[in-house]
Amino acid sequence: MSNSMTNNRSSISPAPVKIQELAKHYGAIKANDNVNLDIEGGEFMTLLGPSGSGKTTTLKMVAGFVEPTSGSVMIDNKVVTEPPHKRDIGMVFQNYALFPHMTAAQNVAFPLRMRSVPTQERDERVKNALAMVDLADRMDQLPRQLSGGQQQRVALARALVFEPRVVLMDEPLGALDKKLRENLQLQIRAIQQDLDITMIYVTHDQEEALVMSDRIAVFNNGKIVQVGTGEALYERPETRFVADFIGESNIFGGRLDADGSHLKSGDLSLAVPATMIASSTPAALVVRPERMRLNRLGTDLQGSNSLEAKVKDIIYLGSERKYELEHANGTVLIARHQVGRSNITPEIGENILVSWKIEHGVVVTDEG
Ligand SMILES: Nc1ncnc2c1ncn2[C@@H]1O[C@H](COP(=O)(O)OP(=O)(O)OP(=O)(O)O)[C@@H](O)[C@H]1O
Ligand SMILES: [Mg+2]
Repeated sequence: MSNSMTNNRSSISPAPVKIQELAKHYGAIKANDNVNLDIEGGEFMTLLGPSGSGKTTTLKMVAGFVEPTSGSVMIDNKVVTEPPHKRDIGMVFQNYALFPHMTAAQNVAFPLRMRSVPTQERDERVKNALAMVDLADRMDQLPRQLSGGQQQRVALARALVFEPRVVLMDEPLGALDKKLRENLQLQIRAIQQDLDITMIYVTHDQEEALVMSDRIAVFNNGKIVQVGTGEALYERPETRFVADFIGESNIFGGRLDADGSHLKSGDLSLAVPATMIASSTPAALVVRPERMRLNRLGTDLQGSNSLEAKVKDIIYLGSERKYELEHANGTVLIARHQVGRSNITPEIGENILVSWKIEHGVVVTDEG
């Protein structure tokens, strides 16, 4: 990847985006329901959530393609009301088709033509933008003469060539194979940092979100349920939904006891770390698989919860080993360990004691 565009970029700072009480209702369907989000200038913010949770609708309201039912979007501290082409926003969508009769270079030149950039400067910028996505040698090819990944890179160059202060991308890598996707994830992230652009990126792939983002906003049912760094969402989820959606978890649903020290889950009583969640609220205890320890039966485990379990399956994942364990009451638990890092290495069918330190559990609300 070349840094050639960096030199051209004027010294304006990237624009913050503020989404305020944004709602979009289609009859009884609340595509967006009171969405609030503060995105810093130069930040890579990912909207992550299941299908139909309102990610695209939010993006379209930022772009100006959809009129909000209520609420507003501020770009660079000003409420935007202009039509899409006047918002100085670059966009890449999953199937944001290139103009089929135009070459790669003509496609990338299009936004510059629209802005009446003089020919010589235009040619220079098109060349630089295509070099940035490693397509300098494909300038004169038509979209149908390019692979899917190359077409997406042309779309990327077209979204960036006019140096917008905000770029929106809606599942731009959705149609590509895994290897190419991983490659482009890193490339998009590098370009975004290089050009210091504010990015709002939509995906429903949690790994993609973790790899690319400064912060992630998790959507469910038209609402943002939690915003934070990937690490914060993984280590400190606030709801069962977030714990479940990001990474793998062991989840015990139930209620806290009156003093909040234990969670009753069926016939289990599990010690939990201090929490603000009330005993009247449905709660769950979340323990990540890598926090689960395996021990011989009879091991004395102070400061930990422990359950007897049978090893049902062992799955080799290269550098990791994943254990499927079953407690006598039918609860299935997952443990994952780096190969060579487990304290014991039981066989399938063995009875062991699975344990985790109390502070490695996270109490979350369980919206059911
Ligand atoms: N023009 C429309 N008319 C009616 N309902 C709509 C319209 N656009 C979106 N919706 C509904 O709003 C909800 C949110 O849709 P949206 O496209 O924002 O979801 P999404 O999170 O982008 O999902 P996906 O991951 O599948 O792309 C869905 O229930 C959808 O059916
Ligand atoms: Mg969508």
